[in-house]
Amino acid sequence: MLDVTDLSVSYGAIRAVRSISFTLRKGELVSLLGANGAGKSSTIKCIAGALKASGGTITLEGKDITAASPEQVVRAGLATVPETRDVFPDLTVAENLMLGAFIHRRDQAGNRDNLEKLNTLFPRLAERSKQAAGTLSGGEQQMLVIARALMARPRVLLLDEPSLGLAPAIVERIFEMIETLKKSGLTILLVEQNVNQALAVADRAFVMRLGAIVASGTAEEIRSTSDLSAHYLGG
Ligand SMILES: Nc1ncnc2c1ncn2[C@@H]1O[C@H](COP(=O)(O)OP(=O)(O)OP(=O)(O)O)[C@@H](O)[C@H]1O
Ligand SMILES: [Mg+2]
Repeated sequence: MLDVTDLSVSYGAIRAVRSISFTLRKGELVSLLGANGAGKSSTIKCIAGALKASGGTITLEGKDITAASPEQVVRAGLATVPETRDVFPDLTVAENLMLGAFIHRRDQAGNRDNLEKLNTLFPRLAERSKQAAGTLSGGEQQMLVIARALMARPRVLLLDEPSLGLAPAIVERIFEMIETLKKSGLTILLVEQNVNQALAVADRAFVMRLGAIVASGTAEEIRSTSDLSAHYLGG
């Protein structure tokens, strides 16, 4: 589904991602773990087209998207929820959602169908559809940015730390929602600091440290890797 090969990302002299390779198979949920500064967000941003790769290739369903713009990446079938969790604060929930459907502007009927499905998945958003997005709680805003990404009807979804800074009950709900999305057949790359929960929902996982992948395997293998905490906490 998604093939990342020898991908590198640099900020000037800083090499944030150092020739990493991994694959997401169709319908899989893969967790990307690693300490602060490991290069997780840089990887996500580069796949999303928001950062230029300094080396390597990214292909989505066989199509080379390495040099694609963010819009081209979304059109190719991959949507991203960045760690910044940006909503348009003065627009309503419904307006924010419709912006997520910008690549399907001409398919209003399809957008309405999709919105209905998302309302079932996110009842709290449905109740607040006319509320200004800036007045939502942190957890509701996270739900909104995820729902907005889904309005693009992606086949692959990248989530950058969706549970960050949220209360345990909301984190629980976000993980349940991620499992529901996985069951619907979506292919998901989940960046998380929350190792136990990320491994509980993942088929496979890999661990980044200092821009490189230092461990990868099934969620079970990663969980039982004795030096995971060293890799994970070692920065
Ligand atoms: N815009 C930037 N300019 C310069 N260096 C950057 C920039 N963004 C990130 N970096 C550096 O790249 C490295 C990787 O950062 P990145 O944000 O990808 O890590 P991360 O794994 O997502 O960390 P976190 O868990 O804190 O979100 C870090 O050393 C960081 O300081
Ligand atoms: Mg990050």
